[in-house]
Amino acid sequence: MSVVIRSIASYIPELRVTNDDLAKKIDTTDEWIHSHTGISTRHLAPDGMQTSDLATEAAKKALAKANIQVNDLDFILVATATPDYFGFPATACIVQDKLGASGCAAFDITAGCTGFIYALDVASSMLERHHGKHGLVIGAETLSRLVDWEDRSTAVLFGDAAGAAVVSQIDEPGRGVLSTVLGAEGSGALDLYMVQTPRTSAYSRMEPVVPKISMNGHHVYDFAVKAMTTLIERMLHETVYKLEDFAWLVPHQANARIVQAAGKRFGIPEEKFYMNIAEYANTSSASIPVALAEMEEKGLLKTNDLIMLLGFGSGLTYGSAVIRW
Ligand code: ACO
Repeated sequence: MSVVIRSIASYIPELRVTNDDLAKKIDTTDEWIHSHTGISTRHLAPDGMQTSDLATEAAKKALAKANIQVNDLDFILVATATPDYFGFPATACIVQDKLGASGCAAFDITAGCTGFIYALDVASSMLERHHGKHGLVIGAETLSRLVDWEDRSTAVLFGDAAGAAVVSQIDEPGRGVLSTVLGAEGSGALDLYMVQTPRTSAYSRMEPVVPKISMNGHHVYDFAVKAMTTLIERMLHETVYKLEDFAWLVPHQANARIVQAAGKRFGIPEEKFYMNIAEYANTSSASIPVALAEMEEKGLLKTNDLIMLLGFGSGLTYGSAVIRW
């Protein structure tokens, strides 16, 4: 038995904000952002649109493509760092309701930008262990809500989006998710985290906590290059495949320079990495499924193509999956 990505789809909010648009509000330039990150634009969710709304739209498209009814699902997993509600309930439960499903398992996975790969691994294990047929694996974020718009070093980096995959168990050995590596370095937890300082005033200490992103960019950069390098090495060591066997490497879209630096260590040509950070910026757990959906729409993914997903993010987490498409 194999676990395959049966369909993949994305939802991108319409509002498109260019670097020049941002430069009208904060002290930055298109030249700085593009040369330091590879980002040109990002899409932002409008007021009132929650992470679950983006996730539900992507999920509906993925279900339609797979020709699967919501009630055929054994579970819904949502990888997100920006849940509708902090703590509980899980965004996956809200997505279940918005899809009109009921009964199937539903829970969230918190693994930062590596969330989609963690969720894919959990989904594969669930399908194998429970002999389930179909599940939804979603990466969805509204990071624009947590960005400190006065902090130019992080405000320019993030965007909102969702990507959803229907994963299914099929009887075709050698296809689907062939190998995964997951890891974390908790000592770097505070290199990228959500500051949750209670707002205080002269009259009350009970004002709501407004979380915002705090990042040690240099530490995260170094970690990310090392994580990508280690993941590629481990995958080549732990599987029978060589770099030239892969049609595509699909990295988390955090910064084009991170991918270029990791690629250089192995002499991997830039064209082998699928990149779309220029349009969407860093959409955290959504970035890999959004990239896969775009690749599929462009006809870049052929049946039996070998691809490697590479992720890294807050935690600090990292993970990789080798998939026979
Ligand atoms: N516009 C203009 N200038 C800026 C901006 C901006 N948006 N942001 C920072 N600067 C300035 C700084 O103030 C600094 O000025 P100074 O030299 O006068 O002090 C200068 O640019 C250089 O700043 P650095 O922080 O050294 O810039 P660096 O080249 O390291 O790039 C960056 C910063 C892009 C954040 C880089 O460190 C990076 O990519 N780190 C990894 C971040 C990342 O990938 N995060 C996400 C991964 S995990 C996840 O996806 C959630």
